[in-house]
Amino acid sequence: MSYRALSEALLNGKPYAGAALQALQGPPERQRYFRPVVKAAAEAVPAPIRILEIGSWAGVSAISWGTALKDLNQEGDITCVDPWLPYFDINLNNADVYREMNRAAERSLIYKLFQHNTTAAGLQDILHVKQGSSREVLPHLPERAFTIVYIDGSHAYEDVVFDIEQAKRLLRDCGILCGDDLELQNGEIEPKELADAVQGGHDFVLSGSATRHYHPGVTAAVGEVIGKVSVWEGFWAVRIQGAHLKQVALDLNSAGLPPHILPFFQRMEGQTAGYSLYFQAGRYYAVSDSVPSEVVGELLTGYEFPPIVLVGRTFQEVKEKAEACTGQISVERPHEPQIVGQHRNFNIVRLKDLVYGVRQSIGEVNLSLDSSLLANQYDQQDVIIGTTVDGIKTRIDCVELLRNVECLEQKIQLMSDHFESTKNQLPAWLDQFRSSTSKLQAQFASELAKIAQELAQEREQRQLVLRAAEQRAAESLRQAVEAAKAAERLQRRIDDRLTEVTALVKELRRKTS
Ligand SMILES: C[S@@+](CC[C@H](N)C(=O)[O-])C[C@H]1O[C@@H](n2cnc3c(N)ncnc32)[C@H](O)[C@@H]1O
Repeated sequence: MSYRALSEALLNGKPYAGAALQALQGPPERQRYFRPVVKAAAEAVPAPIRILEIGSWAGVSAISWGTALKDLNQEGDITCVDPWLPYFDINLNNADVYREMNRAAERSLIYKLFQHNTTAAGLQDILHVKQGSSREVLPHLPERAFTIVYIDGSHAYEDVVFDIEQAKRLLRDCGILCGDDLELQNGEIEPKELADAVQGGHDFVLSGSATRHYHPGVTAAVGEVIGKVSVWEGFWAVRIQGAHLKQVALDLNSAGLPPHILPFFQRMEGQTAGYSLYFQAGRYYAVSDSVPSEVVGELLTGYEFPPIVLVGRTFQEVKEKAEACTGQISVERPHEPQIVGQHRNFNIVRLKDLVYGVRQSIGEVNLSLDSSLLANQYDQQDVIIGTTVDGIKTRIDCVELLRNVECLEQKIQLMSDHFESTKNQLPAWLDQFRSSTSKLQAQFASELAKIAQELAQEREQRQLVLRAAEQRAAESLRQAVEAAKAAERLQRRIDDRLTEVTALVKELRRKTS
């Protein structure tokens, strides 16, 4: 790491975002998304844009928020919450980076650098500093006071859950909740593996099922409290809408690495025999593999020290220079272990005539042990022994490739086991299906027959009733006809009697007159 660049920045009143004191935290590419987040927030929530940052360290991300506000011409302010105290348990997280962060916090150096950086970036008028943990500070902040809450503090599961719950209370409607360190979402990893990793309390671990390093506390907390979120290279965001958190779309055309990070943005571009090739601040460098990795940053100054450090304007130019110098450097055989590089989560260490590749996640390894003892004690996928840096790098590539292939094979095996067991169950399922369909068919047919029988009986009864009614009607008709005839006969007899009476009356009148 470069203390030269740090001292230059301190003396010149410029922000420092380099590797010394671990000032630059995490992949800087993630801060490209701050401007799109501010833009998305400003489009939905009235000014001013009030940003709450949980976890500020050296102030590098706070400056990125300030730059985003300025670039987008937005009125707003930034509240930084951080205890600026050592917070890693070295028994659990013993990699150098954690020791160095604890050391930087112990001596208040990091808080001083935060103050220097934010002042050098001209943030003092819009900055509110709350020194304390989020548990101490957030409950005292007023409800619905912030437009953006950025979570980049403790990675412990319970702390991230707490920060998200508080953020929901603190955000204005349509505001944005975002954070760092979400390399994997919880759907991308076996649940048991994630639960065990959270239980283990390690900050950053390798997932066997997803074959990637990730922060288990962040993955578990975001997954449980929010669910699936929008994520770009480990930077995640959601928008709060009423009581809900929704995925958010960012205008990625407005994304860009903030200028205070650019001079410190160092990228490994590749390797060529005996040299590692880097890009930093517009220049390409070839640095001899004999240089310990912690010193590399010090040498990327723009000056050439052939054959140790070579500089070029293009990748091709520096590569050719390195190839021309290959073999000019006799590599010293150190008697103490020396980290001479890093490759795919391995430290490359030289000791005497040997070169070792040591997986970073297994912690410190006693390399002074005899090679055969080391091979017995450690998995060959974790400690690799060889004689050249390039050879070790190639073998690390093979080991990692093999691990990926093994993981894939395991996944394929799981899938094919599942397929086999499903396939074996198929005939039984088919029999079950057939027997239940034939049972159903029989049941259906008997129901149908019963219904048909009931219908036939009903029809028969109806016909009987009809016939009886017909008979009754015919009898009534016959009786009516008979009655009519009798009435006719009676009428005739009455008429006859009437005629007789009339004649008798006539006769009687005639005799009496
Ligand atoms: C990854 S660093 C933040 C880096 C910073 N955001 C940046 O990108 O420049 C994490 C920070 O969280 C702080 N921190 C740890 N535990 C915390 C807690 N419980 N509440 C608030 N901050 C915490 C640490 O002191 C440290 O400064």
